[in-house]
Amino acid sequence: MCGIVGYIGTRAASGILIEGLKTLEYRGYDSAGVATISEGTLQRTRAKGKLINLQTKLEGLEDPARLGIGHTRWATHGKPEEHNAHPHTDESERLAVVQNGIIENYRELREELKEKGYTFCSDTDTEVIPHLIDEYLKNPAPEAVLSAQSALLEAVRQAVNRLRGAFALAIVSVDFPDELIVVRQQAPLAIGFGQGEFFCASDTPAIMPYTQAVLTLENGEIARLTPMGVEVYEFSGHRLKKYPRTLNWNPIMVEKQGFKHFMLKEIYEQPGVVRTCLETYLDTDWDVSSGESPIKLDLPDALLDGLQHVQILACGTSWHASLVGKYLLEQVAGIPTFVQYASEFRYAPAPLMPNTMTIGVTQSGETADTLAALEMEQNRRTEQGGDYAPRMLGITNRVDSSLGRLIPDVVGTMAGIEIGVAATKTFVAQLMAFYFLSLELAYRRKAISLERMAEIIEGLRQLPAQLEQVLEAQERYVEELSHDFSETQDFIFIGRGINYPIALEGALKLKEISYIHAEGYPAGEMKHGPIALLDEKVPVVAIATRGTVYEKVLSNAQEAKARDAQLIGVVPMNDAEAEETFDSLLPVPDVDELLSPMLTVIPVQLLSYHIAARRGLDVDQPRNLAKSVTVE
Ligand code: G6P
Repeated sequence: MCGIVGYIGTRAASGILIEGLKTLEYRGYDSAGVATISEGTLQRTRAKGKLINLQTKLEGLEDPARLGIGHTRWATHGKPEEHNAHPHTDESERLAVVQNGIIENYRELREELKEKGYTFCSDTDTEVIPHLIDEYLKNPAPEAVLSAQSALLEAVRQAVNRLRGAFALAIVSVDFPDELIVVRQQAPLAIGFGQGEFFCASDTPAIMPYTQAVLTLENGEIARLTPMGVEVYEFSGHRLKKYPRTLNWNPIMVEKQGFKHFMLKEIYEQPGVVRTCLETYLDTDWDVSSGESPIKLDLPDALLDGLQHVQILACGTSWHASLVGKYLLEQVAGIPTFVQYASEFRYAPAPLMPNTMTIGVTQSGETADTLAALEMEQNRRTEQGGDYAPRMLGITNRVDSSLGRLIPDVVGTMAGIEIGVAATKTFVAQLMAFYFLSLELAYRRKAISLERMAEIIEGLRQLPAQLEQVLEAQERYVEELSHDFSETQDFIFIGRGINYPIALEGALKLKEISYIHAEGYPAGEMKHGPIALLDEKVPVVAIATRGTVYEKVLSNAQEAKARDAQLIGVVPMNDAEAEETFDSLLPVPDVDELLSPMLTVIPVQLLSYHIAARRGLDVDQPRNLAKSVTVE
């Protein structure tokens, strides 16, 4: 969370910084700010709230500066007020810093600096950094190693060696008008190489309109960007030889294309995403009689063969996708699978199990907890070795992310950039990855017959058209239905088996964007507590598709109806029993139970979207949330 950008070169920096911040606003939108350096002055402008407020403040201001940094904030320490907005400066306002991350030892550093006479004007952890750099500029520590290259670089090096936590920084100073210093420690930072100009940003889309030559810093690295080039050092001062790589994708035109919100556009992109996944990972010429695997994941045998267990680490919507994945890996491939919140696992990992594949699932590839949990698992398994040696797999929409660098084997989910903070198309793409993985493992383990595999594959092939059918049939109806709930305060979602995670996802979507309290429950558990909440004011959404638990979920829905709850059913099309049970129907094609989550998720996405839009809320950038959570 928080997005940082920086520019040094020959063009006016301010416009480039703002354009970069626009693409990073998904990382936080509590405040925004820029600082530029020209003609011996540092010009800093900050504004509370979204980037547009900063843009309004900057309107009409002539800023010739060719060097600057910018920030969009997701508040961690200190309220989202202007005085807490980045960039933060030293007392003389000659040096400015933007930060993504958290400085864990900021309290002790603040006390130390206060004792030296520094005064603080924000409530942030970040403000210790410009003061600390200033202190090392004035009083360099004796072990200076980079002073010959640059006094600013050396002061930053000494300062970052004092910081604990996760951080990415960009720093400029009036006294060093040809330098932009950037730092990475457990928070992403990429450098773009142009012709006599250099860029830095938390994420590559902010750089890609200018150059595709990108160097991603590793943890514990500092870089000095000047108009002449880029030098990279370790925190120890040791110089590294690093070269940019060329990103092989073009910046995507991020437009709403006539949709009112990105989220709605992304919901509608789902049939296309599924088509892309099928084209990428399924052998289109596969014939059951070939005896070959129909899946083209291109993963090494050493990762997939002889597995006894799978454990999956994830957060948020990715965790819900992982629960569907668990169902598939157990029921299709026959492998016992455990799904853990990465934030819990990293401090209380289960005892090691042998021959275990660990899968990290993260849309962004940057979620701090997921990365830390995976790294910890990789390390403890490397130490143990033998049957316990790491077998790691990543599932991500951003193969160029920190996850992509941490884990050698990654399945890309091919959903394209997702802008809406609430994940939609990337969720169905993660489910697709799990279908392919469980089918590949089922094939290797002979867990299901080739005929059954052919059936599932045929079902997968039908999905894009069925998704289009659901979207077309339901859009208008769900919009109308949402009118009934714009004042509702609580919702319950229930589902069972492979659709229990869809109940969780439905509740999460509604909470995230409409701020309505919602709970997702396994339908059979409702009578153990949540049923006490039910009355005519609490609607219940039941995911009830035909399969092993269909009748059971209908009975659970009846129990809610008996308590006067308004019942909404995500049900099979043309089902008389469902028509009798529910007050409102959100029908989906009657497909193989294993594939049903791909369709049942659509009505719950649409319902959340329309309720939030009806309430006039900021669907794409809901309050307090960020799309990429790079702090613990
Ligand atoms: C944030 C986002 C969620 C996302 C979660 C995990 O909370 O708002 O939409 O599911 O992070 O993100 P990841 O990138 O790891 O999937």
